[in-house]
Amino acid sequence: MASAPASPSAHRPLPKAELHLHIEGTLEPGLAFALAERNGVTLPYATEDALRRAYSFTDLQSFLDLYYALMAVLRTEDDFADLAHAYLARAKEQGVRHAEIFFDPQAHTARGVPIGTVVEGLARALDTAEQTYGISTRLIMCFLRDQSAASALETFEAARPHLDRITAVGLDSAEVGNPPSKFREVFARAREAGLKCVAHAGEEGPAAYVWEALDVLGVDRIDHGVRCMEDERLVARLAAEQVPLTVCPLSNVRLRVIDDLADHPLPEMLDAGLLVTVNSDDPAYFGGYADDNFTAVRDALGLGAETLGTLARNSFRASFLDEATRARYLAEVDAHEAGAQQE
Ligand code: ADE
Ligand code: ZN
Repeated sequence: MASAPASPSAHRPLPKAELHLHIEGTLEPGLAFALAERNGVTLPYATEDALRRAYSFTDLQSFLDLYYALMAVLRTEDDFADLAHAYLARAKEQGVRHAEIFFDPQAHTARGVPIGTVVEGLARALDTAEQTYGISTRLIMCFLRDQSAASALETFEAARPHLDRITAVGLDSAEVGNPPSKFREVFARAREAGLKCVAHAGEEGPAAYVWEALDVLGVDRIDHGVRCMEDERLVARLAAEQVPLTVCPLSNVRLRVIDDLADHPLPEMLDAGLLVTVNSDDPAYFGGYADDNFTAVRDALGLGAETLGTLARNSFRASFLDEATRARYLAEVDAHEAGAQQE
């Protein structure tokens, strides 16, 4: 007997890893107002709708201004734990099985929130993530590239007592004018301490910053990296070395890195043999979580099931998981595809 066709509402998201996700970028307006009230913080917006109306960005800096301003509501360990729980609940619905989560300690320590409050609050939620949400997790501590190299070094030293909670260091915030080479020393120190390294590069900044992230910082992955497509030699290198690129399509459109999702270079990147993954970046601000990004590129770029499967597999291949867990998740993608064929 033929089975009934799956209804559009029965969409079963592909199992996937999310490798480019700023936890502070998951702060939804509802939670922002709840935390503001809990902490006695006054937001410069009367209502959630008024706040949402501010989510119209002209470039990366216009987003960062609001992103840092809203962080004023994050003050206690409970706040950071609640933020992470809210993300994990959304991520589970989106088929995320593994999440490597960025946080920006300097954005909190600058407001007088100790780094231990941030890390321990996040870690408290992540410690329950496997059991509660079926999601394995890692933490990636990012340095703000528009702050000084000395501030990054100071932040790294303040984080030393918490390094058992941290898998990698990253580099984010305003890219243009703040090249990776500015952070050579802190990345060397992180590598010496056994941490993995990633960096945002080639989002708004030039392809030259991707070269620097590879050659000066020795990164294991490039975050965004879409502007690599302007440099043929760089594309050849990234493909030959299978350096993962954590691409964020909805972010690219909202921050005007790309005019229209239909013009996104994702298909050309895949055709060039790059190890591309699809991620949400700051989903509360950019209109979609992990699977929303998969669905958006499927629809705008006409990607077929095989390509979506490749993107899901790439996400696990590009992760910092141990080999046994990676293999288990890859088998889940196989099983998902086999199930989809029978529907
Ligand atoms: N911090 C949060 N989101 C970011 C992005 N898309 N680029 C650089 N820094 C960020
Ligand atoms: Zn990012």
